[in-house]
Amino acid sequence: MHDERFVQMKTQRILFWGLTALLLGWLANNAVAGERPSQTRTVMRQKLVYSANIIEGITLEKYDLVVSNATKMANMNLTNTWHQTGNKDYYEAARKFELDIIGLIDSATAKDTTAVQSAYTRVTADCIACHRICRKQQIRLPDGSLPAAPAKPPVGTRK
Ligand code: HEC
Repeated sequence: MHDERFVQMKTQRILFWGLTALLLGWLANNAVAGERPSQTRTVMRQKLVYSANIIEGITLEKYDLVVSNATKMANMNLTNTWHQTGNKDYYEAARKFELDIIGLIDSATAKDTTAVQSAYTRVTADCIACHRICRKQQIRLPDGSLPAAPAKPPVGTRK
């Protein structure tokens, strides 16, 4: 009798801890899924890589580097999830960005240093403009200010 109760308690304990472990595992897995970078974010981080290569090309007057990286940047613009949402503001910002990138490619192909400089300035202005209308953490209120409590940034990505 005593032994039977002991076995029963042991079984209950094993069941309890087993289920707790399962639950914790499920919660941890969900938390990781929440931190997974969005497709748009991944695309944008790649834009930083191309931008660095473009700056290298501009500053060292290696225009083939500007042309190849600007071309890659122009080509990737259509691949991110924001495009699939059909948001009109995003579409217009992306279109302007595309046209200015083409301007950058053209002036780099012509090895026109002055035109390259101003084209790059326009491209950078387009990055900023689109982030202000589309990037959750930077969306402006009608008076131009940022929201008082910006959306909490995903864990471990921004300072
Ligand atoms: C047409 C709109 C648009 C243009 C143009 C644009 N971006 Fe973005 N960018 C976004 C959106 C939307 C996000 C937010 C993505 C997210 O958090 O899912 C973003 C986020 C980012 C981020 C943050 C990624 C992170 O880790 O959270 C970087 C860096 C970035 N963009 C770089 C650039 C650079 C550099 C350019 C210009 C060369 C550029 N973007 C042009 C829409 C744009």
